[in-house]
Amino acid sequence: MRVGVLTGGGDCPGLNAAIRAVVKRAELEYGDSVIGFKNGWRGAAEGDFMPLTRSQLRNMLPSGGTILGTARFHPSRKDGSLERVARVLEAERVEALVCIGGDGTLKAANRVSQSGVKVVGIPKTIDNDVVGTELSIGFHTGVSIATEAIDRLHTTAESHNRIMVVEVMGHHAGWIAVGAGIAGGADVILIPEVPFDIDEVADHLSHRHRSHANFSIVAVAEGAVPAPGTSMDFSTPMDSHGSIIAGSIGSRIGAEIASRTGFETRVTVLGHVQRGGTPTASDRILGSRFGVAAVDAIHAGRSGVMTALETEKIALVPLKDIAGKLKTVPDDLIAVAQGLV
Ligand code: F6P
Repeated sequence: MRVGVLTGGGDCPGLNAAIRAVVKRAELEYGDSVIGFKNGWRGAAEGDFMPLTRSQLRNMLPSGGTILGTARFHPSRKDGSLERVARVLEAERVEALVCIGGDGTLKAANRVSQSGVKVVGIPKTIDNDVVGTELSIGFHTGVSIATEAIDRLHTTAESHNRIMVVEVMGHHAGWIAVGAGIAGGADVILIPEVPFDIDEVADHLSHRHRSHANFSIVAVAEGAVPAPGTSMDFSTPMDSHGSIIAGSIGSRIGAEIASRTGFETRVTVLGHVQRGGTPTASDRILGSRFGVAAVDAIHAGRSGVMTALETEKIALVPLKDIAGKLKTVPDDLIAVAQGLV
């Protein structure tokens, strides 16, 4: 079988692990050949691709970004692009397509699969806002970088008796702010899901400083917004691709806190630092597992589906059920590991 793979939308760490797993699984287990479309759906619409073989996969696991390139190109939004994608896939005899992307890329994947092409999606986004999966590739690295930043801000905040506002990514969902806020011990966490009242934020910080603290950390997702009817007017500025202009909400909140509390306040905008560089072990493992699962799904005759990680929940289990027992690596993970060596 000839399999195509593409990475669309914003890049993130862990994409190359997924591409590597797709190529290795396809070649070694099924004898497939794989081509990679360049720059997301644009490559699929324009017929711009490169052959991908195992020999090209050296040093892929620790590398950030995507060897295929990516773009914010949505074929469903451009007239005729979906038809062009279908023509390219037919001309290149691509029988199945693995689409690695966030909501936009996966939405297009759904449209393409409805036109009869065999498509399997893999979720990636440091924002972790793809529905249907506990984790998307890239989130673990993004939240780890944001946590390290908060740890570092703690020491300088404490030394200077300052409030530190740190803006992290998260356009529609506050997973990074919540994750890094919990892991780094932020004192205020502002996210798009819970519009904030700046007066309450300022009161909370003033009270904290009056009662026991000489510094505070405020973690803000870039998509955080004030609640309607509260005293801060703000509408999120966007660029022409619909991405938030980084730093807007962070600097505004910093200024509001400084003027309302009188505390010296500084703002750090992490921006694309969170999306760059080497992926964590978790993202490499997740990317590898998703890559293998996507190719297996294609060969199982599945299409119009997405690989997903499920049931990462906190529960209570009886001690008597675990006492004296050992958890060993499950067969499916052993198979992934053995299939990629
Ligand atoms: O990929 C998601 C995301 O990282 C958002 O958190 C952010 O708003 C956006 O991408 C930035 O996009 P761009 O790289 O196009 O500026």
